[in-house]
Amino acid sequence: MWGIRTMTNVNPQELEMLRDLALKAAENSYSPYSEFRVGAVLRLTNGETVTGTNVENVSYGLTICAERAAVVRAISQFGPKIRIAAAAIVNLNGKASPPCGACRQVLAEFIEPGAPVLFPVANGNRTMSFSELLPFGAEMKLK
Ligand code: THU
Repeated sequence: MWGIRTMTNVNPQELEMLRDLALKAAENSYSPYSEFRVGAVLRLTNGETVTGTNVENVSYGLTICAERAAVVRAISQFGPKIRIAAAAIVNLNGKASPPCGACRQVLAEFIEPGAPVLFPVANGNRTMSFSELLPFGAEMKLK
């Protein structure tokens, strides 16, 4: 089931639009401890878009990343059958922020393996297919 899939074709203009939505979400970031303001947007196969931002906690460890906030919001709004067709991540700090390992594993439940995922790198943005980002994630075959 796992393996690297080639990226699903996605209109670059649409990715730009998604980036703009993620930037708006990042402005709502609650990040008094790191001051690192992250925004994420998910484009669902049902045509909807859902955003999220990071919500920090004084315990540090209870912090929720923007990507996971967006996933939780997507399920809450549209139910457990959603599929993610594309994702974009931004930050307002001008730094690289590829999605963390925990977020990749959470995204894996709902995202298409070929979905493009755009994220900031040192010298701009990079887009990779999800299966390139998480080529060998946890899975459980119940039967
Ligand atoms: N963070 C995200 O929201 N997403 C990422 O992809 C990287 C890290 C947040 C967590 C924390 O609030 C802050 O950025 C610093 O790690």
